[in-house]
Amino acid sequence: MKKIITIGGSTSKESINKKLAESVGQLLKGVEVINLDLNNYELPIFSEDIEKDQGFSNDLQLLNKEIEDSDGIILSLAEHNGAYAAAFKNAFDWLSRINGKVWRNKPMLLLSTSNGTRGGQSVMDIALSRFPYNGGNIIGSMTFPSFDQNFQDGQIVSEELLLRITQLSDRFIKSL
Ligand SMILES: Cc1cc2nc3c(=O)[nH]c(=O)nc-3n(C[C@H](O)[C@H](O)[C@H](O)COP(=O)(O)O)c2cc1C
Repeated sequence: MKKIITIGGSTSKESINKKLAESVGQLLKGVEVINLDLNNYELPIFSEDIEKDQGFSNDLQLLNKEIEDSDGIILSLAEHNGAYAAAFKNAFDWLSRINGKVWRNKPMLLLSTSNGTRGGQSVMDIALSRFPYNGGNIIGSMTFPSFDQNFQDGQIVSEELLLRITQLSDRFIKSL
C-alpha cells in the first residue's frame, strides 16, 4: 500500500494547516496516511555553526526519513507575514542540508490556509516558485480561504472548496 505523509507547516497546537492537511489525507482511499507533527521534531534554529558543531540531530534525521520513505506528500503551509512560518522554514533549511532535493520528487499536494480571504496566497507563491529547486513535484496546489468559515467540526463545509480539493486529491492519487 502506498504511504502518504501529511504535514502542517506550523507548530501551533491547533494549527489550521495541520487540520486541513489531515482532513485531505482522510479523503484518500486505498493508501496509508501518516500525519506528521512538526512539534515532534526538536530542531534548533538553524545556524551553520550548530551544524558544524553538532551535525544532524536524530529528530532531523527522523523527519528526513519520513519524507524519504513516503510515496507522496500533502503539505499545507501557514502564512506568517506573507512567508513561511519560522518553524517550517527552519525545518526546511535543516532538511535541505541533508539533501537539497528535500521533497525527493515525490508527488506533492500543496495547500495553504488562513482566515484571510487569500488563504495564504503569498506563502503559496513563494513555495510554488521555490520547491521545484528542492525536488518539489507539485501535482496540484490550492489556497483555502477563510478557514473558520469553510472548515467546521473537522470537515470542509464549503461545497465548492470540497469539490476542488477532491478533484486535486484524485489527480494526486493517480500520480502515485
Ligand atoms: C506572526 C504572524 C503573522 C501572520 N501573518 C499572516 C499573513 O501574512 N497572512 C495571513 O493570511 N495570515 C497571517 N497570520 C495569521 C495566520 O494565518 C494564522 O495564525 C493561522 O492560524 C496560521 O496557521 P496555523 O494555525 O496552521 O499555524 C499571521 C499570524 C501570525 C502569528
